Amino acid sequence: MSSNKPIRIPRARIAGVGKAVPDTILSNADLEKIVDTTDEWITERTGIKERRIVRRGDKTSDYCIRAARDALAEAGVEPEELDFIILGTISPDMRFPATAIFVQEALNAKNATAWDVSATCSGFLYSLYLAEAIIALGRAKKGLVLGAEFLTPITDFTDRATCVLFGDGAGAVVVTEAEGDRGILSTYIGSGGNASHVLYSVGHGTAGSVNQLGEATGERYLQMNGNEVFKHAVRILVKSAKEALDIAGLTAADVDWLVPHQANLRIMKATAERLGIPPEKVFVNIHKYGNTSSASIPIALEEGRHDGSLKDGQVICCIAFGGGFTWGGAVIRF
Ligand SMILES: CC(C)(COP(=O)(O)OP(=O)(O)OC[C@H]1O[C@@H](n2cnc3c(N)ncnc32)[C@H](O)[C@@H]1OP(=O)(O)O)[C@@H](O)C(=O)NCCC(=O)NCCS
Repeated sequence: MSSNKPIRIPRARIAGVGKAVPDTILSNADLEKIVDTTDEWITERTGIKERRIVRRGDKTSDYCIRAARDALAEAGVEPEELDFIILGTISPDMRFPATAIFVQEALNAKNATAWDVSATCSGFLYSLYLAEAIIALGRAKKGLVLGAEFLTPITDFTDRATCVLFGDGAGAVVVTEAEGDRGILSTYIGSGGNASHVLYSVGHGTAGSVNQLGEATGERYLQMNGNEVFKHAVRILVKSAKEALDIAGLTAADVDWLVPHQANLRIMKATAERLGIPPEKVFVNIHKYGNTSSASIPIALEEGRHDGSLKDGQVICCIAFGGGFTWGGAVIRF
């Protein structure tokens, strides 16, 4: 049953979806040979059975370009028609230029403006928020929104508490002006600024304080206090769903599919339960890919559309949270 508000008229819609994941599979059995863990522990605690991992020499943009080409073909949009390319990523090809620039170059999207958004696992929904707003303002008609992540290269494969969780991949959607009542019914984003110590990666950032001899002193790998993240995740995700649904003029009872960021099956189930959404309405593919950060929602949208689960006219509620903390939600009707 809808809330008392009228259902929001969409200004933008998703016209095509695409994904690209590495061919190489790292299974739980493979991880048993690398760290002190078991398939049983990983499956019970996370829902993950395997994840995809990139090969040396692969670049984030390579996967973005493949995902983008599929999304553009499905939407029937030519690269030169694109007004913008927004990429949510925390694992760019280079410090600069933005990885979205490499995507622009490869697609020859010469009329687009391209940039990256750094919002951890909420990166795709942050980017979709911008895309919707830009189109709603009448500043653009067509754009490409991506979420892509190479997390395994920044994961410490001697640390069993983190290395079992993450995977690599990319997803893309083409966003165009809406027609009729189908489209993006709402987008919502937020950040806390209170948990930057719980989940982070110094990497090549200035906090890594490279000294005059060029010696990096920062931590190379992603750092995480998993229990602390877990404690806040469900509350943040529930809030994100409620806010996005409220903006759309809908409630949890209207949701045909909840498409959560795929971080942990227990987090997804607990979130759905608190929202009163039955488990069969929760889209899950974490068993195949692990946590691919900002790529997880567009990969899920691509799979759900192409396997026939996410049907035209259904109400789809996407929610994400990530390091920072960051969070976001979007309600979509294809
Ligand atoms: C990481 C996570 C799976 C750990 O699950 P948990 O049930 O909280 O497990 P704990 O961390 O309490 O650890 C329980 C035990 O398992 C052990 N353990 C940790 N990782 C293990 C692994 N891969 N294999 C086997 N045992 C493991 C711990 O050492 C601990 O052992 P102890 O009891 O002897 O000390 C869980 O906290 C989580 O998913 N957090 C959210 C992480 C996340 O989503 N991050 C991304 C946000 S976008």
